[in-house]
Amino acid sequence: MTQELWTAVDRYICDHLLPDDPALDAALRASDAAGLPSIAVTPNQGKLLALLVRIHGARRILELGTLGGYSTIWLARALPPGGSLVTLEANPGYAEVARQNIAGAGLAEIVQLRVGPALETLPVMAAEGEQFDLIFIDADKQNYPGYLEWSLKLSRPGTLIVADNIVRAGAILDADTDADVGDPRQADGVVRGVRRLYELLAAEPRLSATAIQTVGAKGHDGFALALVTDAG
Ligand code: SAH
Ligand code: DHB
Ligand code: MG
Repeated sequence: MTQELWTAVDRYICDHLLPDDPALDAALRASDAAGLPSIAVTPNQGKLLALLVRIHGARRILELGTLGGYSTIWLARALPPGGSLVTLEANPGYAEVARQNIAGAGLAEIVQLRVGPALETLPVMAAEGEQFDLIFIDADKQNYPGYLEWSLKLSRPGTLIVADNIVRAGAILDADTDADVGDPRQADGVVRGVRRLYELLAAEPRLSATAIQTVGAKGHDGFALALVTDAG
């Protein structure tokens, strides 16, 4: 019942505020057809990411976890002329689907897709001296603590770090959830990883952070937002 209501309200929001979007629809269809899991951000969440890019005036974006490129397209489209986005994906099959979706959206020129485990790519990028205005963390939740550490190395004062899936229907409240909940979304250290992220966000003097819960077509979850400040 509750989920039905959340889904219906998401539909209402999208019907009113998000015009039909052939490139995004095609990206989701192609992702489905290729058997990718349906875990992309919802359309209204994608629009939120796009608005954050524009509010922030971000010119250079890093995304961890591409999947089929759905959130990538939302983020990249919100960039100003001359802006660019790097997205990291471990699964070569997913990356190939994403590559086609990104090209189909006309974004091949401004999106760089780097295939491989993000914890291997991030040090290379840091060594290359890369720096980003906005970082969207959405890959494997177990590694969120490491992703936050590397994101800081790839940040400047003023960088906005956004992390998806930091509520998991409240599973984060239970430190023991990871023991064996029979739910693959919560198994294997996901909850531990997200809880450690909160600890790092709280302890890191260079960050000012909050988190917002969301409900909608994807259930009950949320985003963390952390601003890299000059302090610390
Ligand atoms: N941002 C996407 C959804 C990402 S789902 C969207 O909203 O449209 C999470 C993605 O992270 C999956 O595609 C998964 O393959 C990828 N992933 C998992 N482990 C990873 C790792 N170690 N490095 C990089 N990507 C990883
Ligand atoms: C999963 C991953 C996500 O990024 C998400 O938004 C929802 C679910 C998952 O791995 O189950
Ligand atoms: Mg996510």
